[in-house]
Amino acid sequence: MLVTSKELLLDAQKNGYAVGAFNTNNLEITHAIIRAAEAKRAPVLVQISAGALKYAGPEFLPMIVAKAAQQASVPVAIHLDHGPDFKTVLLALRTGFTSIMRDASKLPYEQNVAEVRKVVEVCHALGIPVEAEIGKIGGAEEHVVVSEREALMTDPDEAARFVEDAGFDFLAVAIGNAHGFYKGEPKLDFDRLDAIRRRVSVPLVLHGASGIPDYQITEAVKRGICKINIDTEIRYAFITTMKKIMDEKPGEIDPRKILGPAIDAMQAVVESKIEIFQSAGRA
Ligand code: G3H
Ligand code: ZN
Repeated sequence: MLVTSKELLLDAQKNGYAVGAFNTNNLEITHAIIRAAEAKRAPVLVQISAGALKYAGPEFLPMIVAKAAQQASVPVAIHLDHGPDFKTVLLALRTGFTSIMRDASKLPYEQNVAEVRKVVEVCHALGIPVEAEIGKIGGAEEHVVVSEREALMTDPDEAARFVEDAGFDFLAVAIGNAHGFYKGEPKLDFDRLDAIRRRVSVPLVLHGASGIPDYQITEAVKRGICKINIDTEIRYAFITTMKKIMDEKPGEIDPRKILGPAIDAMQAVVESKIEIFQSAGRA
């Protein structure tokens, strides 16, 4: 069933687990996510980025995900991931998204607040929750020195002020997490997470979770992370499985025989994440 993310994340916050937020670009990834959620009886967010909307067609992909969500036997929210501007937010609202991220984290503080407030005003009037970000979640840049790395992380006091000033529903934090695969083992800053948690009462979001070791994910959930974003590990399963089959059977020209096993492989990734996030059996 199609729901908003607010009810999902507030339940996660109350009961000490995290809801998986998985990125989709097409029919196959969408099937994998929803099948995994149903198999594990877990609530789930299916996320679509502006890049995915551009790739798949701005109306077409939300239509596929909305139909899958409506038919699902578990609660599913459709979330705009890293919404880059107001126009994309309006497009998402028009095409049935039930959850919005407005990411203006690269802008100076006051502009970030202004951009998020504008989105909150519209979304809340429609009953749609909003995620925003403070601090900068980078790519996996190993050359960044520690002092620079810390300067990019979420400042707990600023985070508290940001929630107060902009009035949104979930906060994405930068605590040593980065998008894409990590070079070497990432080290989440749990003291920083605790400090943010003490000052901020809205559910917290962890981006860039592909490649973070399970023990650190478990610790992050214990310390108040309620939504965890995964994209890269799904893509990796998709492409490596397709490549393997095409290598093994170079004469195969039925896309279903290549994409079918790729869906299964992605489903396995999503199922294992749902277990680690402790959201299995919560639906
Ligand atoms: O917003 C999307 C996620 O933060 C994806 O993170 O690249 O580590 O899978 P990932
Ligand atoms: Zn992200």
